[in-house]
Amino acid sequence: MDAAIACEGLEKTYKNGVKALEGVSFKVRPGEIFGLLGPNGAGKSTTVRILATLTRPDGGTASVAGCDVIGNPAGVRLRIGLVAQASGVDKWATGRENLTLQAHLMRVPAGEIPSRVKTLLQWVDLTGPADRIVKTYSGGMKRRLDLAMGLVNEPTVLFLDEPTTGLDPETRAALWRDLKRLRQERNLTVLLTTHYLEEADHLCDRLAIVDHGKVVVEGTPAELKARISGDTVTLEVGGESARAAALLKPLPGVLETIADGSRAIVRADRGASAMPLLITTLERAGITVSSSTLSRPTLDDVYLHHTGRRFQGEGEAGSEPAA
Ligand SMILES: Nc1ncnc2c1ncn2[C@@H]1O[C@H](COP(=O)(O)OP(=O)(O)OP(=O)(O)O)[C@@H](O)[C@H]1O
Ligand SMILES: [Mg+2]
Repeated sequence: MDAAIACEGLEKTYKNGVKALEGVSFKVRPGEIFGLLGPNGAGKSTTVRILATLTRPDGGTASVAGCDVIGNPAGVRLRIGLVAQASGVDKWATGRENLTLQAHLMRVPAGEIPSRVKTLLQWVDLTGPADRIVKTYSGGMKRRLDLAMGLVNEPTVLFLDEPTTGLDPETRAALWRDLKRLRQERNLTVLLTTHYLEEADHLCDRLAIVDHGKVVVEGTPAELKARISGDTVTLEVGGESARAAALLKPLPGVLETIADGSRAIVRADRGASAMPLLITTLERAGITVSSSTLSRPTLDDVYLHHTGRRFQGEGEAGSEPAA
């Protein structure tokens, strides 16, 4: 089957000289939830804006739902829904009014509008508050309304730019469930951007890590983690993490060590059998290990491996409260 979204070598330099994209390529299969994961300024929104035909690339090619974004932008627009990073709803109108107006703008036949709006309100669980003004909605309710706005024209491909930024963990998990259900019921293809590692891990079938305008790696969360060999051993060592990391690095089976605050993080072949040697080496050097944990690599380890930087503290910093 043809890709629902395909882009190859996308480049974009803004008028102020900022090179936002330096050759972005990836493919999304029909019915997939695909994530673009990257820190602030990586180029995620720029990629979405090009695919949604809101801005043109300077180089490269892209097609969405079988239509070329440059050759047939009108065809693309008919087949997509877009939920932008900043909400476009009128907070002084009700949820139902916002959806009705959007349906008119999207040229939904007038006779079909009331029933379509009703169905959408049910889908996103906003039937109760449908006739209240949006200003009285919670952050999660507003985001669900944004989602419904993106679905008004019954798109085959839905773009979601940072759908859960600023939402609390429970509301975020509820939105993930809604998206998975919608994808299943409507066979939607979803492209979302996120700077939450957990979101990429739990929600996305496949993802691409974007950094400085390029895709650095692409795959399922499980594949990406499996490609990083070894286990992660985290040792709590108080103020001695730098010395601990240096001491452990040359030991047999140790692939990588990182000093991270009060913790020494060690990636090692067969972490469980390496653990006693790691701990005795530190204790012989007078470093007390107050706790130790063993885990399989996370997406944070994947990010570190491919970019040389930790994601946490960079990307996750953008979790400002909902507007
Ligand atoms: N309209 C614009 N004019 C000039 N520069 C821009 C414009 N939009 C984005 N940029 C710049 O292009 C780069 C990529 O921005 P983009 O918005 O695509 O990043 P992002 O990955 O979506 O980041 P965030 O996580 O903060 O939303 C950044 O350096 C940004 O400052
Ligand atoms: Mg963005």
